[in-house]
Amino acid sequence: MYPDMPFDAVKLKDDFEGIHFGLYADHKLSGVVSLFPQGDVYQFRKLAVLPAAQKLGYGTKLMDYILDFCKIQKATELWCNARVNAKEFYFKFGFRETDDTFFKDGFDFVVMELGF
Ligand SMILES: CC(C)(COP(=O)(O)OP(=O)(O)OC[C@H]1O[C@@H](n2cnc3c(N)ncnc32)[C@H](O)[C@@H]1OP(=O)(O)O)[C@@H](O)C(=O)NCCC(=O)NCCS
Repeated sequence: MYPDMPFDAVKLKDDFEGIHFGLYADHKLSGVVSLFPQGDVYQFRKLAVLPAAQKLGYGTKLMDYILDFCKIQKATELWCNARVNAKEFYFKFGFRETDDTFFKDGFDFVVMELGF
């Protein structure tokens, strides 16, 4: 996620309220994503695949998994703060970009959402 920053940089104060998913490839944790429900509306955060394991379909597997999970939970919406340079990735799953944008930690972000 932020390979040049200390481990604490990826911790969130809300982590204990989250549902955390990990993808293991050859017994190695290779991808993560976390879901944060607020009623029927879910946010996902910290989607990341190890640099050496990117472009192998793991990010897609994680997204497919949390989309199914949200449907089973009867979520009405899933949203995220997407890095602008990753928004094409989210379009593939049906997310639409909103007008909400901001700049943080050296990246431009846009809020993206998907209704169920
Ligand atoms: C974004 C990320 C999670 C994608 O995971 P991944 O395992 O590399 O993605 P996949 O292999 O499942 O790629 C699926 C498709 O999305 C495309 N894709 C992957 N990353 C992309 C990106 N950043 N922008 C646009 N398209 C992307 C792939 O080219 C592939 O396209 P194809 O199906 O047409 O070949 C991963 O690259 C990553 O961890 N990046 C650094 C952290 C980050 O940016 N997290 C997202 C913050 S919003």
